[in-house]
Amino acid sequence: MEKPFNVVILGSGRGSNAEAVLAAQRAGRLGQARVAGILCDQPGARMLELGPRFGVPAVYLDPAPFKTKLEGAAEQRYIAQIRAWQADLVVLAGFMRVLKTAFLEAFAGRIINLHPSLLPAFPGLDAIGQALAARVAVTGCTVHEVTAQVDAGRILRQTQVLIAPGDTVESLAAKVHAAEHELLPAVIAELSQRGRK
Ligand code: GAR
Repeated sequence: MEKPFNVVILGSGRGSNAEAVLAAQRAGRLGQARVAGILCDQPGARMLELGPRFGVPAVYLDPAPFKTKLEGAAEQRYIAQIRAWQADLVVLAGFMRVLKTAFLEAFAGRIINLHPSLLPAFPGLDAIGQALAARVAVTGCTVHEVTAQVDAGRILRQTQVLIAPGDTVESLAAKVHAAEHELLPAVIAELSQRGRK
């Protein structure tokens, strides 16, 4: 049997995008890809409940001692687990930490990130709030390759979302998330067909 295209998802919170990927897999819409495991840096995160629900390993891995980056012993723990799951692709879906050199080199060319704006517009934190504050008419979401420069790697695909005059952070976030839930599984399916990256 052909080896599956193993995807490992990293996140920090709700996990609605990880759930969308798992649901796409269940529905046969993830190409050759299958989720080999989920890693989370927050012990009580809702994302971890996806493990038993979908029958995949979902593990909290201690990210200490840093608050906003993954480096040193924690970085090595993450690398070891992702290697143990034989990842062909590492997907950052709401993973709120900056990745450093050892991690980027371990999975070079095989890490993608989901971001809630049309990059290069509104990189960094609170991209949805930034778009509202800038009073733009259109925002969206982006899947891009991860490089050492945050939110700046090659863009793989984007979806536009229109901002209505009465939109709040909550209403706009709901629209962006709905677009993300379509975009991310579609990109993973496409990468899995293109062969082992
Ligand atoms: C998503 O909107 C994703 O684009 C964003 O975090 C959310 C995670 O939601 N990522 C970033 O802002 C990265 N800079 P989820 O946990 O429900 O999938």
